Amino acid sequence: MQGDRDVITVLLVDDIPETRENIKKLLAFEEQEFRVIGSVGTGREALKFALEAKPDIVIMDINMPDMDGIQATSEITKVLPTAAVIMMSVQTDSDYLKKAMQAGARYFLGKPVDPDELYGTIRSVYKSYEPIRRQQRSMQEMPLDIARKTTSSLSDDGQARAGHVIVVYSPQGGVGCTTIATNVASGLMKKGIKVLLVDADLQFGDIGVFLKLQSQSTLLDLVNKVEDLDTDFFDSIVATHESGLKVLLGPQRPEFAEEVEANPTSVSRIIEKIASSYDFVVVDTSSRIDELLLSLTDIATRVVLVATPTLASVKNSRFVLDLFDKMNYSPDKAIFILNRVEDERSRNRVTIPAEIIEKHLKRKVEARIPYNEQVILAAVNKGVPVVASQRDRSKSPIKEMLDFSDHLYSLLMEDAPEDDEQDDKKRKGGLGLRLGR
Ligand SMILES: Nc1ncnc2c1ncn2[C@@H]1O[C@H](COP(=O)(O)OP(=O)(O)O)[C@@H](O)[C@H]1O
Ligand SMILES: [Mg+2]
Repeated sequence: MQGDRDVITVLLVDDIPETRENIKKLLAFEEQEFRVIGSVGTGREALKFALEAKPDIVIMDINMPDMDGIQATSEITKVLPTAAVIMMSVQTDSDYLKKAMQAGARYFLGKPVDPDELYGTIRSVYKSYEPIRRQQRSMQEMPLDIARKTTSSLSDDGQARAGHVIVVYSPQGGVGCTTIATNVASGLMKKGIKVLLVDADLQFGDIGVFLKLQSQSTLLDLVNKVEDLDTDFFDSIVATHESGLKVLLGPQRPEFAEEVEANPTSVSRIIEKIASSYDFVVVDTSSRIDELLLSLTDIATRVVLVATPTLASVKNSRFVLDLFDKMNYSPDKAIFILNRVEDERSRNRVTIPAEIIEKHLKRKVEARIPYNEQVILAAVNKGVPVVASQRDRSKSPIKEMLDFSDHLYSLLMEDAPEDDEQDDKKRKGGLGLRLGR
């Protein structure tokens, strides 16, 4: 993270010195653009060097003694999200390719490499990392008190983390749950903070679309392995967005949802098992009220209830808040927010002022997120969360979404009340029983 700069720094990793020399020579032809800052022969050396020198690009061989390129990639991308790994190997079969991508590599080049392909690949991979660099820079600019508090959890792996589960829910579709969940997850990412976004909208999950993420591995691979789930296996299933955000995608096709629904509490059990590896687990849900949803709200630290300022949406939210009361959730468990405020298209529909909604629900509206199609669409087209597309706090709805993420962050990480668990002990019994049917 050395700020803006024109030269792209490169680390070369290959056990054959001549190969490294050749690439170095090729890159030297374009010395205005690329600078080789290191050249090492093993995965372990690569990890050590990358941590110290923070290269923008790592060109990585696969077969090496000591730690191989796949493992080195996985380790480097875990601890250094701004480093983009480009694999380079004679092995170009799909199995290697898949393994490399799962480990966090961004591109795969065959050997011997064509110079123009090499230059072009480095340029485009570097460019695609701009949101991550921007995010890292904005973390550097974080107020000191927050920075100090978060560095305590900086050292990674094996260490228990806060494990806050934030479920984002609305009883109505189309109000912006997925938008809010994605942006809250991204907004919570600060230095040393690990965030996981889970797509638990099993039928119409759009997180993959919103973030342009594709993965062979999804939640589906976990549901039958809940009992003996370990973090290594979990890590191999989780996708990494270019912004560094970890994402557990939902089933690829709606019909697969049934498999998970046959075992509705599996999703919450998976989350319970891995929560302590993250500071925040943000869960996007569908609008259905079912056993799956309630098992999620049961384990949630907070439920973000999203509504729009319309009669139908407020009425449905009231129903959900009443239900939460019946389930003996503490009143501050649900955080009520409004999205699509000032929606142009709803001008001719009846929209209700937030103050009246507050009175009616006897609840504070914790955030009012304005309608802004342009900003939202631009981000979705790029496949990045709105708040990572431009961390421009002067712009709506970026400002409001970042403010809301910060609000959640300080609520949960700074006061850290440990009293949530006691009245939210795991509840047994079917949905009907809980609804009083
Ligand atoms: N604040 C907003 N301003 C403009 N468009 C929004 C806003 N929030 C969400 N949208 C758009 O509304 C649509 C529904 O949002 P989505 O997050 O998919 O809702 P849900 O998950 O509740 O169905 C999407 O097209 C999204 O881009
Ligand atoms: Mg959705």
